[in-house]
Amino acid sequence: TYVVTEDCIKCKYTDCVEVCPVDCFYEGENMLVINPSECIDCGVCEPECPAEAILPDTEDGLEKWLELNTKYSAEWPNITSQKEPPEDADDHKGETGKFEKYFS
Ligand code: SF4
Ligand code: F3S
Repeated sequence: TYVVTEDCIKCKYTDCVEVCPVDCFYEGENMLVINPSECIDCGVCEPECPAEAILPDTEDGLEKWLELNTKYSAEWPNITSQKEPPEDADDHKGETGKFEKYFS
């Protein structure tokens, strides 16, 4: 599966949802997540994210994000079309420590 990681937080560009063939993105207040049991591993979303927030879970150190995507995709609503990103999205692009600062 692919997972959404920290770089999405406060950016939420939502380009990813437009390309997903199985509509498996779910929206929280500050970030999106992928439902790992719905993702078919096509990989088309990865290069679409301007924040480079989407990665295959086979990369090292992503266990925490796999867990978070699994948990919240069961709780948050599905999102299937692109929307305007937050006004300050570009200010938060590439920022470090976003999970500790903003995740709720
Ligand atoms: Fe959707 Fe494909 Fe991305 Fe999985 S890898 S979330 S199926 S676009
Ligand atoms: Fe987040 Fe990137 Fe999608 S910032 S909403 S994963 S396009």
